[in-house]
Amino acid sequence: MSLQQTLILLKPDAVQRRLCGKILGRLEDRGLKIVALKMLKVTKELAAQHYAEHVKKPFYPQLEEFITSGPVVSLIVEGPGAVQVVRDMMGKTNCRESAPGTIRGDYGLSRQVNLIHGSDSPESAQKEIAIYFRPEEILSYDSTLAEWVC
Ligand code: TYD
Ligand code: MG
Repeated sequence: MSLQQTLILLKPDAVQRRLCGKILGRLEDRGLKIVALKMLKVTKELAAQHYAEHVKKPFYPQLEEFITSGPVVSLIVEGPGAVQVVRDMMGKTNCRESAPGTIRGDYGLSRQVNLIHGSDSPESAQKEIAIYFRPEEILSYDSTLAEWVC
């Protein structure tokens, strides 16, 4: 399986509920490598760009209100098959239908307020990475054990 990068957002509820550490820990524990990370507030314009496929749907006004309601953590992780690995770790869109052991299944009960976004395909990942990060914000580094780890 080829090395992939995927875009993740820890949504405003994850920040407000102080769940970012736990969620980032799960991603790291799985072996995914963080190659970019920042905190920002999603504007209406950014929301419309990110959720272009949903803008005309009936739930969009509420989705826009939620995603712009507070800061999010935006990050890129890298790993073999990372796009699907992250989607599987997230669980289903509706937290109530998500299996225990998934992020949404362990921490959420809502369909809309569902803690985490992850790109749904390698094509979406490339598009979303470009929306949130400039190329110079994405780091390339080895993670072989450093000399100081002994
Ligand atoms: P979607 O891309 O279908 O889900 P996912 O985040 O699992 O890729 O939808 C984007 C977000 O829109 C979703 O995380 C929550 C919200 N949403 C609703 O509020 N109501 C809905 O009926 C759907 C399908 C999504
Ligand atoms: Mg989606």
